[in-house]
Amino acid sequence: MPKAYGFAAHGGPEAEAFLDIPRPVPGPGQLLVAVRAAGVNPVDWKRRAGFRAPGTPPPKLPVVFGSEVAGVVEEVGDGVAGFAAGDAVFGNPVTGGYAEYTLLPAELAAHKPAAVSFTDAATLPVAAATAYDGVHQLALAPGATLVITGVGGGVGVAAAQLAVRAGITVIGTASTGKKDFVEALGVIHIDPGPGVANRVRRAAPGGVDAIYDLVGGDALEEIASVLRDRSKLITAADRETAGRLGGSPVARARNRAVLDAVAERVAAGALRPLVTSIYPLHSAPEALRLVEQGHARGKIVIEVAPR
Ligand SMILES: NC(=O)c1ccc[n+]([C@@H]2O[C@H](COP(=O)([O-])OP(=O)(O)OC[C@H]3O[C@@H](n4cnc5c(N)ncnc54)[C@H](OP(=O)(O)O)[C@@H]3O)[C@@H](O)[C@H]2O)c1
Repeated sequence: MPKAYGFAAHGGPEAEAFLDIPRPVPGPGQLLVAVRAAGVNPVDWKRRAGFRAPGTPPPKLPVVFGSEVAGVVEEVGDGVAGFAAGDAVFGNPVTGGYAEYTLLPAELAAHKPAAVSFTDAATLPVAAATAYDGVHQLALAPGATLVITGVGGGVGVAAAQLAVRAGITVIGTASTGKKDFVEALGVIHIDPGPGVANRVRRAAPGGVDAIYDLVGGDALEEIASVLRDRSKLITAADRETAGRLGGSPVARARNRAVLDAVAERVAAGALRPLVTSIYPLHSAPEALRLVEQGHARGKIVIEVAPR
């Protein structure tokens, strides 16, 4: 039976297990995809710990990890137009991505440009798409100043590149070890931690026009004080704190148009996925621990060998 990595109960890492699961059968509107690569995201371990998006029912266990994949279509379900067996695709799976096979709803799948590797394409449906949605939501003019907290992680490196390309000055918080890494993206690096608001004020004497928060909690509380118009505070990490501060969660588009938009930018060399660690499927636990520790650099990807 095909291999997958997931959890059979909610809890800590001890709840995780390699699973033998039947090859999924595509329903109407779905693609069966042989996975080549899966992006690793914080939401993977958060779901294992019991997190659910507001209004969503408890998942049926076991759950296979992984919300972004790239791979090759094996079969198409009824009613699918525009995709055929053998197509290279990427998107947001419904049955988990840390697996040999997964199901993609056709509306959350896009064709992978030939110039984009499977590994890079697997970083786009969650991390780069969230970055894209947030930067577009803020709708800043060239010359504006944007603060990104947690700029050295998966969403942050993509958001920084998209904003810098749009002529926006980006100030980003990241641990000292990531200074060179984020400066290479054109970001003005700021150390996080106590005093961060004053460091931002010094770096932005003309003021800050928006904050894209990827950390939440106390880090967000302090840094929000630099922003007068709180309608320009968005977060992907902590909707409660942002809401209390007058901000809002990033509005995710979750559609093919955004997948195509980010992939086109990668193909054109305008957006680099910055995959810093690649693990085989049998090392999925190590890949997820790296992200769960909260200090990932760029993107972490699991590669699934072609059968
Ligand atoms: N709503 C959505 O659709 C959506 C989509 C994607 C992600 N998210 C959420 O957005 C957040 C970021 O995602 P991601 O994929 O970018 O995560 P990630 O790859 O783990 O990156 C998070 C970054 O934050 C930095 N960081 C951690 N603690 C910090 C602190 N106190 N101050 C400043 N920086 C700190 C980390 O490194 P250093 O500490 O070394 O700098 C790391 O680079 C997560 O909470 C994730 O669940 C939501």
